[in-house]
Amino acid sequence: MRIQMIRKEMICRICSVGNQKNRFTYRPHLLGDQKELDRNPNEKLQPAEILLNAVTHRQLSGGENILLQRISDIRGELSASTTQIMMQDFGAKRNLFRKNKPAEKSGRIVTKIIGKMYADSTICESQGRFIFNLVREFQPAVCLELGTCMGISAAYVGAALELNQTGRLISIEGSDSLSKIARENLLKIGLTRTTILTGRFQDWLPQVLRESAPFGFIFIDGHHEEQATLNYFEEIIPYAGQKAIFLFDDIYWSFGMNRAWRKIRADRRIGFSLNRSMMGIALKA
Ligand SMILES: C[S@@+](CC[C@H](N)C(=O)[O-])C[C@H]1O[C@@H](n2cnc3c(N)ncnc32)[C@H](O)[C@@H]1O
Repeated sequence: MRIQMIRKEMICRICSVGNQKNRFTYRPHLLGDQKELDRNPNEKLQPAEILLNAVTHRQLSGGENILLQRISDIRGELSASTTQIMMQDFGAKRNLFRKNKPAEKSGRIVTKIIGKMYADSTICESQGRFIFNLVREFQPAVCLELGTCMGISAAYVGAALELNQTGRLISIEGSDSLSKIARENLLKIGLTRTTILTGRFQDWLPQVLRESAPFGFIFIDGHHEEQATLNYFEEIIPYAGQKAIFLFDDIYWSFGMNRAWRKIRADRRIGFSLNRSMMGIALKA
């Protein structure tokens, strides 16, 4: 389990270093869509530059460090936990070479060890800090997350919102037991701007989109099937605000996920996009 975590963190670091290099030379053709940047440089460069600023390590204030340390402490607890939980698993089954097996409607009932679940499913620390910086820089009013798991990525968004003193996060998770753990974790950190909804993305989305739009930040980190990812993008984009940020995790998880990401970044409604640390970032045009 520990080896898995170290491997994950190393991959993240390697990807982050790649991006730090880009910071100094600022080669948008390596980062985003050169055609889009050429077409309207003044309009496109501004959010892209803000984004790059967030990508690279910001100087963190004392208040920011305190909240991030609390998240690290929770990470440590989860990682060391050998407690078993029963949960409904809604995630797609990975098959790199064939079509992914579609996720089941009612979820498979499985037993998982918390520490293993944490190592397999949550974003790594550098991705978390990246998300934190994005939300601090862009100050979105309403954020949406698909895939709460045990609340780690939600904690980074929630911590940034807490420090922004504005905005809220709605995060959706299919498993009852994971939602419960996530709520407890967010409470322990002292985050008040997050709401976790338990149920399938497909079932909650129409109501959430209708009632809480426009969304400024959307993180899609669950149900990693090509068609499902494209469907969520199609469903959400009319409810995304101007220059909203879409973040897709695990864009190299399968060929299908990578195809979905390439289609999304080529979409005419996306003005700028880049890959970072296994995540795809797309700004609405
Ligand atoms: C990769 S994990 C999310 C990790 C989390 N974002 C983090 O980094 O802390 C994906 C989560 O999405 C949930 N999920 C997958 N497909 C779903 C669906 N169709 N509806 C609801 N939840 C789903 C899974 O139960 C799982 O907890």
